[in-house]
Amino acid sequence: MKDLPKVELHLHHEGAAPPDFIRRLAGERHVDLSQAFDARGGYAFKGFQHFLQVYEAATSVLKTPEDYARLTAAVLEDRAAEGVVYCETFLSPDFCGGGDVGAWRDYLAAIVEAARAAEARHGILWRGVVTAVRHFGPEQAKRPSLCAAETVGDWITGFGMGGDETKGQQGDFAWAFDQAREAGLCLTTHAGEFGGPESVWQALRDLNVDRIGHGVRAIEDARLVRELAARQVTLEVCPGSNVALGLYKDFAAHPIARLREAGVKITVSTDDPPFFHTNLVREYDMLAESFGWDESDFRALNETAAEAAFCDAETRARIHKKLEKT
Ligand code: ADE
Ligand code: ZN
Repeated sequence: MKDLPKVELHLHHEGAAPPDFIRRLAGERHVDLSQAFDARGGYAFKGFQHFLQVYEAATSVLKTPEDYARLTAAVLEDRAAEGVVYCETFLSPDFCGGGDVGAWRDYLAAIVEAARAAEARHGILWRGVVTAVRHFGPEQAKRPSLCAAETVGDWITGFGMGGDETKGQQGDFAWAFDQAREAGLCLTTHAGEFGGPESVWQALRDLNVDRIGHGVRAIEDARLVRELAARQVTLEVCPGSNVALGLYKDFAAHPIARLREAGVKITVSTDDPPFFHTNLVREYDMLAESFGWDESDFRALNETAAEAAFCDAETRARIHKKLEKT
């Protein structure tokens, strides 16, 4: 599994930070983060809301563009070691300069420089999806959307939204998504994770997104499953994350195989791998064990992910080449 070339579409930049990396920075900055870690040094949280709090506490030690450059190098090195040839990560200008466009440009420049170095070193391709944080509210979401619109190009290709799906409605954020769409960005939003099928309907109807983050709770509404299949909307499914956050009791109970059998476009990602004690190799191993998926299934899955990647035609051709190679 490790050597199989992979595409990862749903990965939070800070959520991929190795705990040691965050602990070291906290030490350098004299920030007490002891509550964020368990006895074995991993991230410690109980349930979704607490996860979001620990995530933001850990993120608070990342204070400069240079910190994000170091984080980017670590994140892309880890992905490359798992056989990832192309990945997109979610970047939140709220955490990178407080939503200010000028500050965001500085963070982005540092991130891009690190991504270029990772490409030269490991051959891994990277693109960024700017995200709003839902529980910061619709007014605040206009700022990351403006940051995305101002920096859309070769590296920033998408706009999306994460955070607490139980707060507000998808449609409350339509202004931010419209601004991003008009700037030429591709769109995704977390829906059908801690919100039910209605949240996925809202994402399609009110935000008109190209992809859905998670989307797995669509399985609770047969008409929605048919709609997703008919519209060929790609789901960024993160099974290990869903199990770790208690949505499903184990991989066998996860709806990914049922969604796939119903004709929904499925991709597999890790979301926040160290938080959930996972990585893409483990996700594939667990899927193989739970559903009998083999190499041809995973190759097909990665072709689907390449088709759904937020990138230009030339980059997509490069991804396809990388997927064919080994
Ligand atoms: N931010 C980081 N991980 C997330 C998740 N799984 N759901 C919503 N927001 C997130
Ligand atoms: Zn996510």
